[in-house]
Amino acid sequence: MRRELSLYFVNCRSAAKPVVFSKAGEVLLLRDLFRWAGRQPSSVQELAEIGYMLLAERARREDDRIMVKEVLESVLKVTIHPTSLYAALDLPQLGVTPASSGLTWTSSLRRAFILLATALKNHEPVLLVGETGSGKTSLAEFMAKSLGRDLVMLNCHQNTEVGDLLGSQRPVRNRTILRKDACNSALQVFRQLGVSVDEVDPSDVNAHLQIISSLLHELKGSPHMEKLRSLREQLLHVDFLFDWEDGPLVKSMKEGSIFLMDEISLADDSVLERLNSVLEPSRTLLLAERGGLDASDVLISPRPEFEIVVTMNPGGDYGKKELSSALRNRFTEIWIPPLDNKDDGIAIVNASWMHSSLRSFTTPLIKFADWICQEVGSSAVIGMRDLLVSTLHLGSILGSNQHAGLGSILKCSLRK
Ligand SMILES: Nc1ncnc2c1ncn2[C@@H]1O[C@H](COP(=O)(O)OP(=O)(O)O)[C@@H](O)[C@H]1O
Ligand SMILES: [Mg+2]
Repeated sequence: MRRELSLYFVNCRSAAKPVVFSKAGEVLLLRDLFRWAGRQPSSVQELAEIGYMLLAERARREDDRIMVKEVLESVLKVTIHPTSLYAALDLPQLGVTPASSGLTWTSSLRRAFILLATALKNHEPVLLVGETGSGKTSLAEFMAKSLGRDLVMLNCHQNTEVGDLLGSQRPVRNRTILRKDACNSALQVFRQLGVSVDEVDPSDVNAHLQIISSLLHELKGSPHMEKLRSLREQLLHVDFLFDWEDGPLVKSMKEGSIFLMDEISLADDSVLERLNSVLEPSRTLLLAERGGLDASDVLISPRPEFEIVVTMNPGGDYGKKELSSALRNRFTEIWIPPLDNKDDGIAIVNASWMHSSLRSFTTPLIKFADWICQEVGSSAVIGMRDLLVSTLHLGSILGSNQHAGLGSILKCSLRK
């Protein structure tokens, strides 16, 4: 611990120049230290590498990453090789084998995959930050597939409300059918438990509830209790005009899936504030708006397999803000760099052609896209999505018309 603390002070001093994170106090908080220690490094080398993964890999600029690396190396007296660190790591050791997907396994995908898998293995909530089209959503989907886990997704926007995240009271439809089903189930259970139902009105919900109450009393401690309780719940709900419907977060917590909250920074602070307790080590959620008979209806504790991954674009563009530092620090942040048009771009575009014979068009297509970006003065004009759409169009058009011009096809696909 002494080593980490000395590192903390060195880091704070280094933050006198405005790098790494926006404020000196954000360089290394206690939460970072707990996360670092929680990954249980077994050697000083591993301690430094985990520190690098946690502190440097969230930096958005290369010089910041280098600064963190230098501080770690000078304090811990080891050498960190980021490239070989990810190349050498054994994926099955992390408990995950990449599933087959439409994604091309590039070195940057391997880095992001390892960082995300390591965080999830340690049950840390993850924040993926990157420009549009850098592959954040695809990475989360790919990870869920590779882990063989269900993914529950919520796309945030300016009008996302708390109800969209947690759930809300909704009007009950088909109430007659629900009533009939509940009564039939009750009669069936009564018969199984040897209760005479000859004199009971089959549609009298109150009479059924009375029988259940006395059975719950008589059969205390028996294995039938659970069934009777859920039957009581079902009967109590038949006259409700409104009933609670769980939102994606609550569903995901209850079923123990991976919850992906996409473009989180677009949502209002009142929505994001509800995440705070789920991101604490206890990971509970108080659903005050739900109401209910049991405490477990209101205080949600997730299954142990529940994980949370959120994505956001860096602040700055229209409608895109940064998260508050309190919320941001609860996540393990991973910076996803834009897909470059060099090695990774070439590998991805090469793999996306319908026919391998079209690969000779990869370099001209990328050069053409680079040229447009240079002319306009922004690299956001043509992203990877546009290039992939172009390969699809080119593939289908070149199949029928070998003379089509590259420029006109690209222009036509970009207009769509
Ligand atoms: N490694 C990759 N191989 C192939 N396609 C990729 C890769 N990474 C990203 N893409 C593609 O880039 C596009 C943008 O990815 P997406 O995950 O939607 O980005 P984001 O969520 O960051 O905006 C998608 O069409 C996706 O399939
Ligand atoms: Mg996305």
